[in-house]
Amino acid sequence: MNSTIILGIESSCDDTSAAVIRDGVMLSNVIASQAVHTSFGGVVPELASRAHQLNIIPVVHEALKRAGIEKSELSAIAFTRGPGLLGSLLVGTSFAKGFAQALNLPLVDVNHLQAHVLAHYISEGKPDERRPEFPFLCLLVSGGNSQIVLVKAYNDMEVIGQTIDDAAGEAFDKCAKVMGLPYPGGPHIDRLAKEGNPKAFTFNKPQIPGYNYSFSGLKTSFLYLLRDKIKENPNFVEENLNDLCASLQATVVDILMNKLRKAASELNIRQVAVAGGVSANSALRQAFLDFGVKHNWEVYIPPFAFTTDNAAMIAITGYFKYQHNDFCSIEEVPFARVSD
Ligand code: KG4
Repeated sequence: MNSTIILGIESSCDDTSAAVIRDGVMLSNVIASQAVHTSFGGVVPELASRAHQLNIIPVVHEALKRAGIEKSELSAIAFTRGPGLLGSLLVGTSFAKGFAQALNLPLVDVNHLQAHVLAHYISEGKPDERRPEFPFLCLLVSGGNSQIVLVKAYNDMEVIGQTIDDAAGEAFDKCAKVMGLPYPGGPHIDRLAKEGNPKAFTFNKPQIPGYNYSFSGLKTSFLYLLRDKIKENPNFVEENLNDLCASLQATVVDILMNKLRKAASELNIRQVAVAGGVSANSALRQAFLDFGVKHNWEVYIPPFAFTTDNAAMIAITGYFKYQHNDFCSIEEVPFARVSD
């Protein structure tokens, strides 16, 4: 039987990525991150689009080269259609369309959030790989989303809870910014928290029903604490940086895990996974392992490389869709928001 070889293209935010997957096994996953945004304290959409434009062709060439695959061997092109920054998505979408037309290949459109969840199915060809069995719960936490997803099949996912305001990553990034840490702040908070006391400060936790999240109250509570303490001691942040990071991180992890535990117990699901950029967080990873032992869950934590934006997750989703002849037309346009 012929192999199925998918080229995946990801350009939804500030990472230009291309990956090649053969029969579910990753052959390459090339990511060009954009340093241009660091000095602005956040992603500047126009700069992101321009950087994608510069990066996309070299990144695709590199992905094919590392995979040892010729263009003529590809079975289909999968690309991120949304959600994300529209200008960024347009670069990847237009490239994918042009490449597919030139090579006379089918096109597969991929939902970025669905791809984060399906990243758990990327094989790296290792013998000890584990994959969640359907149905499972996935905590999807990134800079733009905080959701609990009930995953019934590769193409049947139900969002049973989500943030009603800020995402968990956004809360990390915004609080990091007021402490003077570079963007994105999540990884810096994670690093500094390792030396801090998670019980040093307490912050408001949201009281909202169901499986939904809210992080804007925590952000405000954090800002007010800093404002009041800085009045008493202008060096408060510098002197308490590790404890502030540890306490903030512990609160975010607590909020995330409590709702997940509630969902798992009420729906009686023991297969529990985490995905998205914030799943790189070491305290969240540890909490997953601890909850797994305590509540008898089978936990699935992705390798670091598949937590943040990457094209391997787009290619694996494309692979599933390819197997079901789930292709898209050349007229398909990107969407910025899930509701578009
Ligand atoms: O999924 P992702 O790469 O991209 C988008 O949301 O577009 O997630 C990025 C988010 C950022 O908010 C970043 O601060 C957060 O993931 N993040 C982390 C860590 N690594 C990345 N947050 C906490 N701890 C980390 N180690």
